[in-house]
Formats: sequence, C-alpha cells, structure tokens
Amino acid sequence: MELRDKVVVVTGGANGMGEAMCRRFAAEGASMVVCDIDAAGTRRVATEVGGLGRVVDVRDEAQIRALVRDVIEVRGRIDVFVANAGVLWGEPHDGVTPLQDRGNVWASNAAWQEMWDVNVMAQVYAARAVLPHMLARGEGYLVQNASAAGLLTALGNAPYTASKHAVVGLTEWLSIHHGAQGIKVSCIVAEGVRTDMLRGAQGEWFAVAGAIDPDDAAAAVVAGIRTEQFLILTHPKVEQYFRGKAADYDGWLTRMRRLHAKTPR
Ligand SMILES: NC(=O)c1ccc[n+]([C@@H]2O[C@H](COP(=O)([O-])OP(=O)(O)OC[C@H]3O[C@@H](n4cnc5c(N)ncnc54)[C@H](O)[C@@H]3O)[C@@H](O)[C@H]2O)c1
Repeated sequence: MELRDKVVVVTGGANGMGEAMCRRFAAEGASMVVCDIDAAGTRRVATEVGGLGRVVDVRDEAQIRALVRDVIEVRGRIDVFVANAGVLWGEPHDGVTPLQDRGNVWASNAAWQEMWDVNVMAQVYAARAVLPHMLARGEGYLVQNASAAGLLTALGNAPYTASKHAVVGLTEWLSIHHGAQGIKVSCIVAEGVRTDMLRGAQGEWFAVAGAIDPDDAAAAVVAGIRTEQFLILTHPKVEQYFRGKAADYDGWLTRMRRLHAKTPR
C-alpha cells in the first residue's frame, strides 16, 4: 500500500518509533492521527506533522472506541491503524531494584498486568474498534508493533517476552481470519531501536548490539507497508535467528542459555 492520502492512526505516536513513523508517514503524504498518553508529546508531534492529535490511554477500551469514532467523523475513514504503543517494564524503575529482578517471573502482578494491558489488550481493543469499519469498506490495514522478543526472547524480561509472543499470535490470527476480507495485516518486529524504551534510569542507552535510529526503523515500516509483507523486520538478521530456532528448537534454547550466562547482570 502506498501511504499517500491515507488516513493513518499511530498509537504511542508521541515518542520513539511511533513519533518517527508519524513523521515518515506524513512525509509519504499520509493524513496523520497521533495518539498517545503523553499529552505534550502528542501536541508536539501532531503539530509537526500537520495532523490530528488525540490523548488516549490505550489500556482503556472506551477511549479507543471513542478515538476510532472521532477519527471517522473528522477524517471520514481510517485506512491504516498502527498499534504501536508499548512498554518494556510494567512499572517505573525505583532506581534500586536490579533489572533482572524486575524482569523475571517474580516481577509483580501489577507489572505483568500493565505489560499485558498496554502491549496486548490495547491491540485487541483497537482491532475490535476499527475492524467493523474496515470490513464494511472491504479494506483496511492493521499494523501491530511486536518485537524480536515475540519471535525469539528478551533476555532478562519474562513479562515483555510473553506479551510480545501474544502480539505475534494475535497478529497472525488477524491475518488468517480477516486477510481474505480485504484486511491487510503486518507485524513489526524490531530488535534494538534507540528510543526512550532503551534508556536506563540514568538516561544512558542500554547496550543493544546493532541498535538503530528510529528513523531507520520507520523507513523499514514504510517499505514493509509498501510491499504488504506480514513480517516487517527492522533487523533482517532476526529472520535468520527465527529460522535457526524453528530448525532446531532445543539447540536454540541451549545457545540462548549460553548467551544468558554471558550476559552481564
Ligand atoms: N525500542 C526498541 O528497541 C524496540 C524493539 C522492539 C519493539 N519495540 C516496540 O516498539 C513500540 C514502540 O516502542 P518505542 O521504543 O518507541 O518506545 P517509547 O517508550 O519511546 O515510546 C512508547 C510510546 O508509547 C506511549 N504509551 C505507553 N503507554 C501508553 C498508554 N497506556 N496509552 C497510550 N500511549 C502509551 C508512550 O507515552 C510513548 O510515547 C513498542 O510496542 C515496543 O515494544 C521497541
């Protein structure tokens, strides 16, 4: 799909990958709707891209439904819905708890729930809200931001890994069940992208080998939407790792255990 003249909604559009996508999609000629819980960032990006800005907490289904109704009223339709908002940790860092204690299975229930609500349920709410409109028109495009953690694993972060696997599963399901009805579906699988998500408590970047700039990730998304491919990879080597995992699951687990043992904690 070409993005020119398309009405595109991006959640989590005020920062990071979402912001870069809003800018890049606008440069492609899309009519943008920037949504985020961050009100100041939403205003800033919406102004910059000449689009609509809507402050939305994606954990709240009523707010997502209202957003969809509002955009259809103002812009007439939604061509592309990018469910991008996501969180890496389920609770703010207290500056004391080591990362491995925040990301293991003993992370608090509140942290697990937050990850589930933002990363997964928000995408369910969005699909539920926008699909009737897209199905009635016989066309539409759902772009879901997952992560390499959804195909492989995020070392040191069980809740994030589990939530992103759920995103991949949901996105496959949407493609299989609605693809023949004119609904295009893509799943963004990024590895390291230099956004606030990858910043530590001191504001430094977490060392993620091969981390790329958000603008480069946005360019990969535009290319993926253009060719309408299901998996939109910002780091092509992830496909190679995924194939390696599928070819020998136990061997892959052994390699990951070795990698985990070498990871500084
Ligand atoms: N940065 C990476 O390395 C990386 C890698 C793989 C996947 N991802 C995924 O990309 C997506 C974007 O991440 P990012 O790196 O740009 O992170 P980011 O923290 O820079 O941006 C996330 C945005 O989501 C918004 N958000 C969070 N909770 C929200 C809520 N309840 N309602 C509305 N908006 C909310 C934040 O305000 C923020 O603007 C996420 O789904 C993330 O899991 C990121």
